[in-house]
Amino acid sequence: MSEPRINADRLWATIMETAAFGATPLGGVRRLALSEEDRQVRDWFVDACKAAGCEITIDTMGSIYAKRPGTNADAPPVACGSHLDTQPSGGKFDGILGVLAGLEVIRALNDAQVETAAPTMVINWTNEEGARFAPGLLASGVFAGVADQAEAFAVTDRDGVRFGDALAAIGYGGSVHPQAMELAAYYEMHIEQGPILEAEGKTIGIVEGAQGSRWYRIHVTGRDSHAGTTPMSMRRDAMQGAARLISSVASIALEHENAVGTVGIVEAGPGSINVVPGSARFTVDMRHPDDNVLAAMDRSLRSAAAELAEDRRLGVEVDQIWHSPPVAFDPACVGRVRDGAVAGGHSHREIVSGAGHDACYAARRVPTGMIFIPCEGGLSHNEKENARYEDVAAGADVLMRAMLATTAG
Ligand code: GLV
Ligand code: MN
Ligand code: MN
Repeated sequence: MSEPRINADRLWATIMETAAFGATPLGGVRRLALSEEDRQVRDWFVDACKAAGCEITIDTMGSIYAKRPGTNADAPPVACGSHLDTQPSGGKFDGILGVLAGLEVIRALNDAQVETAAPTMVINWTNEEGARFAPGLLASGVFAGVADQAEAFAVTDRDGVRFGDALAAIGYGGSVHPQAMELAAYYEMHIEQGPILEAEGKTIGIVEGAQGSRWYRIHVTGRDSHAGTTPMSMRRDAMQGAARLISSVASIALEHENAVGTVGIVEAGPGSINVVPGSARFTVDMRHPDDNVLAAMDRSLRSAAAELAEDRRLGVEVDQIWHSPPVAFDPACVGRVRDGAVAGGHSHREIVSGAGHDACYAARRVPTGMIFIPCEGGLSHNEKENARYEDVAAGADVLMRAMLATTAG
């Protein structure tokens, strides 16, 4: 047995290799959850983990658990992971980095013939992004007991395909319920997806927690009518109503320090150039580190919706489809991440995650910590998303150190 070391070239090569599954012309990845591209990268991952001596378990939500045995077969594994699904125009690092860094940790332990008492494990969670099947964190939500599997299976994409059917179609419906999976701890390495580490020249973000978020689907209904003959005063134009509410989302976010509000999908119906739309649907994503502020933002959104309905004779339905409260990670796990950064000689700072992660739900069941590395320009959910080779290697080094410290008890 020797001192295990992350093989940075090998890790980087796996990132580039898997980026071929769903590669986009601008150098990004389009790998929506449970798509054919998702199946391809899953097959690649399962083969790579088996070749590294891991036992594979697939749960009923399609999450993949690759376990490297320890000397104590009964001990719950010390796990890490993230997600291999991406946004429609995603990058090569969001999620992927955490899964492949976990694989690299296992390979590095094998190379150095390290025996751990507790097994180690890398997990690929299904449908983290929520881009195809909303909300996100669907599989880790079932693992945590905050989402119901039957409801998750019934979630449909924009073409009406059910999550459960898409999962069966790619052959990744396993037999073990996620709640039967026991973990000793969970670590997730991820790009920051924001600008702080890069701006401060720090390599490692010791993630203390994550901000909360609420997602909504809003449906505004009016009346379809002729665009040429219906006087402005006589219209019940759902799209104009939606536009007013959409601008309220930005105003509500601007009223609260550190709040953000986003409308990412807008659809008007019936969808004809010369028909006043009688239907408009859009999504809202609002986030804040303080759940009380998020609740105040929710109240403001609902009262703006009620005022709109009253003023413009429109129907306005506000359907909250997700509430993920702010999370504080386990102090012992956060401490091991900090110790790993110090021991590896990596510059670091404490940070709160602006993005949601499977770690946020894992934290409800098991001690959890996260490691961030910088990404170029703080850019993510973008085909141009990028991270530096040295930072990728440093993050994986901290991940390995934190996991080994946890197996040591
Ligand atoms: C996950 O990508 C999120 O929306 O934070
Ligand atoms: Mn992610
Ligand atoms: Mn993402």
